[in-house]
Amino acid sequence: MLELKEVTKVYRVGAFGSRGLLAVDRVSLDVPAGTIVSLVGESGSGKTTIGKMVLRLIRPTSGRILFEGRDVNLMGKRKLKHYYRKVQGVFQDPFSSYNPIFKADRIFWMIRRSFFPKVPPRDWEQHVVEALKEVGLNPKEVLNKFPHQLSGGQLQRFLIARVFLLDVKLLVADEIVSMLDASTRVEVLDILLKLRERGGGVLFITHDLSLGYYLSDRIVIMYQGAVMEYGPPEEVFGNPVHPYTAFLLEAVPTLERKWKGGIPNIAGTAADIKDRDICRYAARCPHYNESRCRDPVLEEVRPGHWAACWRR
Ligand SMILES: Nc1ncnc2c1ncn2[C@@H]1O[C@H](COP(=O)(O)OP(=O)(O)O)[C@@H](O)[C@H]1O
Ligand SMILES: [Mg+2]
Repeated sequence: MLELKEVTKVYRVGAFGSRGLLAVDRVSLDVPAGTIVSLVGESGSGKTTIGKMVLRLIRPTSGRILFEGRDVNLMGKRKLKHYYRKVQGVFQDPFSSYNPIFKADRIFWMIRRSFFPKVPPRDWEQHVVEALKEVGLNPKEVLNKFPHQLSGGQLQRFLIARVFLLDVKLLVADEIVSMLDASTRVEVLDILLKLRERGGGVLFITHDLSLGYYLSDRIVIMYQGAVMEYGPPEEVFGNPVHPYTAFLLEAVPTLERKWKGGIPNIAGTAADIKDRDICRYAARCPHYNESRCRDPVLEEVRPGHWAACWRR
């Protein structure tokens, strides 16, 4: 359904854009219908940049993004509008998605105006009520309120309710539960599972390894813009090949091991484009080998399980 082919994003930074920051480096992945694919990595690894490119909020520097076989970046206005009927995004901070001076349910009226102007208001209201029930909200409690009168979890569910109003096939969910408390978290994540049951796809972006494990059919481990390893979560976590994956797993709490503080948040900087030929992880890798760590490529180490490291 969604395919990324060698997608690269270089941000120009420094005086007159003198430096090229390699935020995403030749990333290829796909999200088939009815699957949840998690992008996991520390902050600064390029996850949000990928999400934004999929939503066409920014354009890739090179590479192609295909949705149902069509290149997202070649879509004209009409095709793009159709695209947004099928592809939507939800982000970390639900409050920032709303204009505080308008009632929160205005987003539903905006959807009607853009996509379903011919649906009579009465019928539309009924659709909204049904969509809210799908995301576990009581319409009486949440309609006609201003954003500040709703909780983060309620607002986040409002945003996800769009999925049930539009014909959404793919949801880009970027750290959508980071700001929610534990019980609301589970409720919001359950909606994603529901979407998957209906045959929808989710690109689930998180820095939380255990969330990725719990939810996804496939997990993509990213470091400094590049894919280090990917495959089914049981495989990738059960038999990690890349030292970075192993390192991340070390940081996850288990019943036997005490919480060591989650994924350490080491300086969120992307690689400079001139350092492209060497493994991103080289500087931190205990197994660094000068000749073998040049320009690693993803290889299938076991069926469906890929890693960009010479070690096995
Ligand atoms: N608009 C921008 N201009 C310049 N650099 C950016 C911009 N957006 C993100 N970056 C940089 O790109 C890298 C990847 O960022 P991001 O995609 O937000 O990572 P993540 O979501 O994994 O934390 C970071 O080094 C970040 O500082
Ligand atoms: Mg991010």
